[in-house]
Amino acid sequence: APVRDGVVELTAAPGESAFLDGPTTPTWGYGGMPFGGPTIRARRGEEVVVRVTNRLPETTTTHWHGMTLPARMDGGPHQPIAPGETWEARWRVDQPAATLWYHPHPHGATERHVHRGLAGLLLVDDDVPVDLPDRYGLDDVPVILTDRSFGPDGSFDTAHRNAVGLLGDTVLVNGTVAPYLDVRTTRVRLRVLNASPARSYRLAVDAPMTLVGTDGGLLPSPHVVPDVALTPGERAEIVVDVAPGRRVMVRSVPDDLGAVNGIATAAGGADTLDLLELRPADRLEASSPVPAVLSREVPLSSGVSPRVRRFELSNNRINGRAMDMSRVDEVLEPGATEIWELVNRHTLPHNIHVHDARLQVIAPGERAWKDTVPVPPGQTVRVLVRVGPYADPEVPYMIHCHMLRHEDDGMMLQFLVV
Ligand code: C2O
Ligand code: CU
Ligand code: CU
Repeated sequence: APVRDGVVELTAAPGESAFLDGPTTPTWGYGGMPFGGPTIRARRGEEVVVRVTNRLPETTTTHWHGMTLPARMDGGPHQPIAPGETWEARWRVDQPAATLWYHPHPHGATERHVHRGLAGLLLVDDDVPVDLPDRYGLDDVPVILTDRSFGPDGSFDTAHRNAVGLLGDTVLVNGTVAPYLDVRTTRVRLRVLNASPARSYRLAVDAPMTLVGTDGGLLPSPHVVPDVALTPGERAEIVVDVAPGRRVMVRSVPDDLGAVNGIATAAGGADTLDLLELRPADRLEASSPVPAVLSREVPLSSGVSPRVRRFELSNNRINGRAMDMSRVDEVLEPGATEIWELVNRHTLPHNIHVHDARLQVIAPGERAWKDTVPVPPGQTVRVLVRVGPYADPEVPYMIHCHMLRHEDDGMMLQFLVV
């Protein structure tokens, strides 16, 4: 992103994109890109200053998804940026290296703004040495997954929605249809973000695939996995081993999403989608093996008598409530660690994203850092929640489903940290 005197200048503006042969698509983008946005990169300990200018015809916001930061800098629905205005966000980064992202969060209109194209990566680096591929664009590559359908005039189709939201028939990876990546090393690290409004993916590739990181950072140790599921808003860092000259397709394979047949199919769960073709050169530079230890961060622990909260998910409601900008639903203590029970009482898949907090699902085995957690129909997911350190008696953070239509339709609550 363009940086002037240490300040990142980010403008949201309309543009035109040529995704297909044929008519162009009216889109919105950040930082002079017609669709998507530049990758912003910050180091732990660094003070980040971003000035967001809104050149769109309507009010928007810019939210830093996955970041622990003061509520006034969060970029949620309480930090609107009117057309023509500039909003300055400033905070000190204090969390481990991770693949985060930024996107609009205007009350009731998040799906529309994100669907128009507004989303970008926000990478956090730290000083903990770890021998993973790290040459951006060469062997450390962003893979931002979105799906769109196109109308005959080239514009994005927003008419065909169902109960999960807007599903597209065409996958765009970093804004590109049918993308490929020339690979020059024996291992490539993919930082995959599901920036889709509603679609979930299950990534698989006919090559060894190792999961090294999730939403909030690196795993304690690498896991060779057959596939990786990502609901909207989630991220995964994977390392794929390639062989010289042997092309492989990273695909999304069918996934029932824990739902009954008709619903899984309506949610796109029956689809097989080509995402990204890896095209290794005939001669490859040897990459280091993935280290056995990736992170020594201490996992969350709840202490003796943690506060337990329960969130019941139903049709566009959490605990029976619809989002109300003027109501505070929960009050948390700075730095607290709590246990939350996420209970899906609905037939649809949902997920839960918590602003400012770092989460770990309570499950056997080692714990992954999360900020967005899938909650399949009929299931209960228990998570440890570490609240950020910043108190503010006035400005709330959000808890919501990251299927953006659900969020816009009210599946969101507010919490204060005091
Ligand atoms: Cu990625 Cu509240 O959002
Ligand atoms: Cu967020
Ligand atoms: Cu939902």
